[in-house]
Amino acid sequence: MSKKYRVAVVGATGAVGGEMLRVMERRNFPVASLRLLASARSAGTTLKFQGQDIAVEPLGVNSFEGIDVALFSAGGGISREYAPVAVKSGAIVVDNSSAFRMQENVPLVVPEINGGDVAQHKGIIANPNCTTVVTLMALYPLHQKFRVKRIFASSYQAVSGAGARAIEELKEQVKAVAAGHAVQPGIFPHQIAFNVIPQVDSFLETGYTKEEMKMQNEGRRIMHLPTFKASITCVRVPVYRAHSVAVSAEFEKPVNVSEARAAIAAFPGLQIQDDTVAPSYPMPLGAAGQDDCFVGRLRLDCALENGLAFWVCGDQLLKGAALNAVQIAELL
Ligand code: A2P
Repeated sequence: MSKKYRVAVVGATGAVGGEMLRVMERRNFPVASLRLLASARSAGTTLKFQGQDIAVEPLGVNSFEGIDVALFSAGGGISREYAPVAVKSGAIVVDNSSAFRMQENVPLVVPEINGGDVAQHKGIIANPNCTTVVTLMALYPLHQKFRVKRIFASSYQAVSGAGARAIEELKEQVKAVAAGHAVQPGIFPHQIAFNVIPQVDSFLETGYTKEEMKMQNEGRRIMHLPTFKASITCVRVPVYRAHSVAVSAEFEKPVNVSEARAAIAAFPGLQIQDDTVAPSYPMPLGAAGQDDCFVGRLRLDCALENGLAFWVCGDQLLKGAALNAVQIAELL
């Protein structure tokens, strides 16, 4: 019989945590036992896994005794505090927060791109930023073919990327606006219903946000390409689920669309949806709930030398978070 693992999910009641449970179920991850951890606020809650009700426990320093694999998705602060505790207890941590992504001894992994890096872990493996994962899934096969130099991109990011409470905020604002009531922003800095907000995460001195710089910083590590440059504008849009990114990419080698299309079609986890006659292209409504990322609007970029423009959509809770984390655990 193949080995089974004692798994803990930290942040099990959250948007990504819930998806982690469903992804493990769906992929038949070999779970011997499952411990669900969240804040004291969730005490008394139960969650279903493989038809069984499992009680949610408050996270504490003893939560990781007897655990083989711990999946963290409860924010950077919790990861910084408790991931080392889990490692000390003998668990391997797959961390969905940004806490360890830029640490040299922590592999930052998209299994289809740099799965081999997992072998170098010292107890913690980091899951990349969701917008970065979705973009690199489409960019990497093009990089393999044409060698990417730099990209310019804008993201259209779903509210669920900001957590379960952000989904409620959009729902309530839509109802309030429809009823003619005033809207009170909470998680987002401004009204998100019937609006777009050109700010995801906090601002740096350069004028970019932290979220925007993740594409370049994390992209360099994942693609093993220290010269990669990425100028991004990250935008929050009133979409419940799945991020979209409009990308213009410049390459070292001459590009052509048919080779680009073939490279994307052959890459695991990617589908082409690109028909200007139908017309058909990826949209978040179609990408939501799907494991694959979808690429369309592929064309020669008229403003760059050796440039390709494309549009990619991916479910950021799945490939951008929970699915990628479980795939990493599977590699282990
Ligand atoms: P809880 O539901 O008890 O607040 P999301 O990203 O969807 O907002 O989810 C965040 C996850 O992180 C939730 O599962 C949340 O649990 C958990 N969490 C937040 N703060 C803590 C904390 N101090 N200790 C443990 N888990 C936490």
